Amino acid sequence: MNQNSVIPQHIAIIMDGNGRWAKLRGKERSEGHFAGMMALKQTVIAAAQKGVKWLTVYAFSTENWGRPQAEVEALMDLVCKGVEMNAAELSENGIRVQVIGERSRFSASVREAIERIESITAKGENMTLVLALNYSSRSELTYAVQQIAARVKAGEMEADAITEQTISQALYTAAMPDPDLIIRTSGEYRLSNFLMWQASYSEFYFTDTLWPDFGEEELTKAIEAYNARDRRYGLVK
Ligand code: IPE
Ligand code: IPE
Ligand code: MG
Repeated sequence: MNQNSVIPQHIAIIMDGNGRWAKLRGKERSEGHFAGMMALKQTVIAAAQKGVKWLTVYAFSTENWGRPQAEVEALMDLVCKGVEMNAAELSENGIRVQVIGERSRFSASVREAIERIESITAKGENMTLVLALNYSSRSELTYAVQQIAARVKAGEMEADAITEQTISQALYTAAMPDPDLIIRTSGEYRLSNFLMWQASYSEFYFTDTLWPDFGEEELTKAIEAYNARDRRYGLVK
């Protein structure tokens, strides 16, 4: 990579294409998801080595519950397996894991796995890996509005005192910077209900590569593309 490249502080990834990757190989979709987890591991290590501070990955959307039950179950098992297989190494690499999304819908074993990885890695200072699980932007915003409305109703704040910051602070991502770069794999060009508020001034990078084939090389390409962008934020330079 170019020595002078600016490393985005926060990269977010819509990891898409596991199913097509499996189909191309005559495998089950669940095998594509397993390969996707391996690609995630490579990408996490590469991002941390490059000095990325925040890496957010879309792993399971609120809409994904509508997939065939066997696939949903395979994905839930993969959360548990992923924690088991990677917790120690993430912790050794100083990677802190945090989960955004609504947890109450998960089984007790998935919730425990999430809590376990968050606590094992809590002290990591090199990079934060944010897993979006049972996440969607609309549900996040709906929940935020409910919280803010309850505060107004309780007389804790006036409605006209609600600012953009009030809203940002009521999201799962309250403690995180907005993503500088959003990557989507597999040749799809949409957000699919991911970080809509936070993406206001993000740069987008799309690649045809299917998620299980993504890794350090692809990440480097995305960062190089990011470096060719001119972020104007609505201003004139
Ligand atoms: C992304 O891969 C992983 C999840 C949505 C959980 P897909 O499963 O969406 O793969 P395609 O889009 O069907 O190829
Ligand atoms: C978005 O991918 C969700 C995740 C990557 C977890 P999908 O494959 O579910 O999105 P659509 O259906 O193509 O929009
Ligand atoms: Mg998909």
